[in-house]
Amino acid sequence: MLLTQFISESTEALSQIYPLAEARGIILMLCQETLGVRSYTHIIEPQTAIPDDKLPELIQLRERLLASEPIQYVLGFCEFCGRRFAVGPGVLIPRPETEELVSAAVGHLLSLSQPVRVLDLCTGSGCIAWSIAQELPSSAVVGVDISPEALSIARSQFKIENSPEFISADVLKTDNIPMWEKFDVIVSNPPYIMDQEKSQMRSNVLDYEPSLALFVPDDDPLLFYRAIASWSVKLLKDSGVGFVEINEHLAEETALVFQQAGFEDTYIINDVFSKNRIVRFARKS
Ligand SMILES: C[S@@+](CC[C@H](N)C(=O)[O-])C[C@H]1O[C@@H](n2cnc3c(N)ncnc32)[C@H](O)[C@@H]1O
Repeated sequence: MLLTQFISESTEALSQIYPLAEARGIILMLCQETLGVRSYTHIIEPQTAIPDDKLPELIQLRERLLASEPIQYVLGFCEFCGRRFAVGPGVLIPRPETEELVSAAVGHLLSLSQPVRVLDLCTGSGCIAWSIAQELPSSAVVGVDISPEALSIARSQFKIENSPEFISADVLKTDNIPMWEKFDVIVSNPPYIMDQEKSQMRSNVLDYEPSLALFVPDDDPLLFYRAIASWSVKLLKDSGVGFVEINEHLAEETALVFQQAGFEDTYIINDVFSKNRIVRFARKS
């Protein structure tokens, strides 16, 4: 089969699930990764054929996409902060907006004398922890999660000298916070999507990504932030700073959680789309 035919047929089929441009991007990515072609090979070399021994695999992977499985699970990786992170069922696919949390934290950490200590609560794939560790090679980074699947993937991401340590713990159990050496920065992207927001979400997320990583009850959507504030009260140095990704619709309320926990210097940071995305908190300015 010609590559161009596979791309146009597959794009049309996938556009039943995704907007056309997104469907095309997904199919081009599938072809790039499985065939080693460029995104434009089918245009500049329209006679390019898919090798017979590759076609069955390609069709099988396309079937998974047509069943709404995210391309990142189908390929087994996701790009984040310029690096490839392994992902799979049971682990949240890192989102582009979380890169802004990493930038804010790294920007602050670079202004401190090194080495620094960083805690990442609800670490998932470890994308935040590993990105910070790689930007600051003398840093000591600790990631915490409750999910065995997430911790297993997080531990296996890279091999570097200052690999983060990944620890199993329930962040919501605030009567049992470990007595670790204090941290310069605490970061977190906890579950924050309200159950009522599910109706606006697509099946590639709802049917495949772990609910544990995404959702919080409508009647208590800030429970993770209260817990993170408690961990921060105990484990952040006096001069320490916290950065949490937030539900854009609950920015003021989230900032208030940290103010009520005693963090006076608390403010909201917008993302590139001018949406409320991060709350930064510290004891004093
Ligand atoms: C929104 S995901 C964030 C994952 C990753 N930090 C990222 O930005 O892609 C939230 C993570 O919180 C973890 N989690 C959920 N409940 C938890 C709990 N009670 N204690 C610790 N981690 C929890 C989930 O397993 C999931 O990995």
